[in-house]
Amino acid sequence: MAICVAVAGATGWAGSAVTRALIQSEEFVLVGAVSRSHAGQDIGEVLGLSPCGVVVAGTVPEALTSACDVLIDYTHPTVVKQHAITALESGVHVVIGTSGLTAQDFEEIDEIARRQGKGVVAAGNFSLTAALAKHFSLMAAQYLGSWEIVEYASQSKVDAPGGTVQELAESLSAIRQPDIFVPRENVIGRPQSRGADIQGTTVHAVRLPGYILGFDVLFGMPDERLTIHHEAGQNASPYVAGTLLAARKVGQVSGIVRGLDTLLFLNNPDQ
Ligand SMILES: NC(=O)c1ccc[n+]([C@@H]2O[C@H](COP(=O)([O-])OP(=O)(O)OC[C@H]3O[C@@H](n4cnc5c(N)ncnc54)[C@H](OP(=O)(O)O)[C@@H]3O)[C@@H](O)[C@H]2O)c1
Repeated sequence: MAICVAVAGATGWAGSAVTRALIQSEEFVLVGAVSRSHAGQDIGEVLGLSPCGVVVAGTVPEALTSACDVLIDYTHPTVVKQHAITALESGVHVVIGTSGLTAQDFEEIDEIARRQGKGVVAAGNFSLTAALAKHFSLMAAQYLGSWEIVEYASQSKVDAPGGTVQELAESLSAIRQPDIFVPRENVIGRPQSRGADIQGTTVHAVRLPGYILGFDVLFGMPDERLTIHHEAGQNASPYVAGTLLAARKVGQVSGIVRGLDTLLFLNNPDQ
């Protein structure tokens, strides 16, 4: 049976790519779209497609007046939590692509989801290849004791490191603490040039024109090296497949699942 989905942020950079894919999919039915600036218009037309009969709502509660299984949110850090709570309290599962929620926000959302018997999948990066790069890095860290991360992004990216690398560094550090051969306090010269310490993992962030978004996880062993490299392009298509996968699976989840890699390997603990 088709999964009925509403998208909050349906006209944005990421949300519009997801909404286009939903309209064109046979597996999903788009039943709602939210954008304050395009309220009242047909979302198909707004996205440059044929009219699809779904009128853009100005708010999430309005969009959820039609029967809906899943709300996908690609809006803004200031509103995503309330959108998630509204959806869960209306008996709708939630897929969260919007960044900026804190650990405490996730705990609250998890509690409400469990109370309502609903699922939530939240990921700072819904790209399948980024999720796989993270998974392979975590596998490698089980066997290799020393690593550092280099993140590459355009000159205009203001946060450093970005959410994906922050999450990756934290997850790697949780597997084990990497070997540090010269402790920071013993570095001669400029210790800052050794990068940031994220729970034990050293991270270097490059910000330059000509770069879009990527990272290398560098594992070093005596006389050998392993590099796990990920690179994203300029458009939002990498996030579509992972978001749709989450929309497909969120009905089987109870409470919150964080990270696309966790969702991918949820039932395969040995992988
Ligand atoms: N998880 C991932 O893989 C991934 C990938 C890409 C982006 N993101 C995250 O997704 C979020 C959106 O990014 P984006 O680049 O798509 O942003 P964007 O282009 O600015 O789009 C934001 C969308 O949300 C709506 N919106 C903005 N503020 C709102 C508010 N206060 N209340 C309700 N709707 C609001 C906008 O429409 P109106 O202004 O008309 O309401 C628009 O449709 C960001 O947090 C970004 O970091 C995550």
